[in-house]
Amino acid sequence: MRDIQPVRWQDGHLLLLDQTLLPHREVVLEITDHRQAAEAIRQMRVRGAPAIGVAGAYAVALAARALQSRQWDGFLAELEREAAAIGSTRPTAVNLRWAVDRMLRRALQCASSAEACHALEEEACRIHQEDVEACRALSAHGASLLPSEGGVLTHCNAGALATGGYYGTALGVVRAAWEMGKRFHAFCTETRPFLQGARLTAWELVQMGIPATLVVDSAAGSLMRKGEVQCVIVGADRIAANGDVANKIGTYSLAVLARENAVPFYVAAPTSTVDLSLPSGEEIPIEERPAEEVTRWASVPTAPAGIGARNPAFDVTPHRYVTAIITERGVLCPPYEAALRGALADHVRA
Ligand code: MRU
Repeated sequence: MRDIQPVRWQDGHLLLLDQTLLPHREVVLEITDHRQAAEAIRQMRVRGAPAIGVAGAYAVALAARALQSRQWDGFLAELEREAAAIGSTRPTAVNLRWAVDRMLRRALQCASSAEACHALEEEACRIHQEDVEACRALSAHGASLLPSEGGVLTHCNAGALATGGYYGTALGVVRAAWEMGKRFHAFCTETRPFLQGARLTAWELVQMGIPATLVVDSAAGSLMRKGEVQCVIVGADRIAANGDVANKIGTYSLAVLARENAVPFYVAAPTSTVDLSLPSGEEIPIEERPAEEVTRWASVPTAPAGIGARNPAFDVTPHRYVTAIITERGVLCPPYEAALRGALADHVRA
């Protein structure tokens, strides 16, 4: 099976597989500057909560290198400013802020800008490696939940492309279950308006050789009603302390439809996606992206000029719709507040 690496660090440069060009073209961007890296995150050339966390960490390492000639105090102040700019490029996925904050904490343990540059490069590589390991572990934990036959439906792209690479979260569970010998059929939703499902998940499923069918987002309910879907599995951008889940717009509708049709609804995410500082999903900031993503595709208008458009990129699924949360520390069941706090006990977010 081909391993997909959306983010790489090579000879002090950040290499990003440009996800805006997939599935037609595989172009790797070579990024040498932190502002370029921040722009790539904003434009979703790299996307998916864990992947933007990893890319954000490398961006802070690039910022440190650009500031290396500064005096220590000036270096730290400027690094904090640049890190804040990197961390605010996409507000919903907490992995980005988590990674940037961890990089800043590491910088504060150093005594000079030269030492910090070296330490931050190492720390970014560590964050990357940990994400790959977390995805591998959560994929193995979740595989037993998937059915041996029937249909498994996923939304958006929570595959290798959305993480540090190799496995992914929701799609990692699908891959691990398939490798265990389970023979279900995968369904992926298109995921309007950015088409992460049609362009990216479909591409990954084809690469993995897993039989799969692409459906328009609005077909999911009817498939469930006809008994063609035995479980829904999605990733997450942020999980609040009570287990409410922010994920790609449309996830909430899928969760409600799953409940209506007695279909289990699973969320797969590394613990770096959990935000215990927020009591519930009500407090999760939801990114609003440009209206043109809704009214155009590849610069071609798909709606009349003059129409208004809203483009909330994420929604929040209340925890009562979530059957289980699959993490690298095991499968968590309700009540989520206690389960999440237990899973993060030796891994508390600052
Ligand atoms: O806007 P995107 O493509 O970054 O949104 C991605 C998602 O919503 C994913 O489901 C989520 O980040 C989990 S990825 C492992």
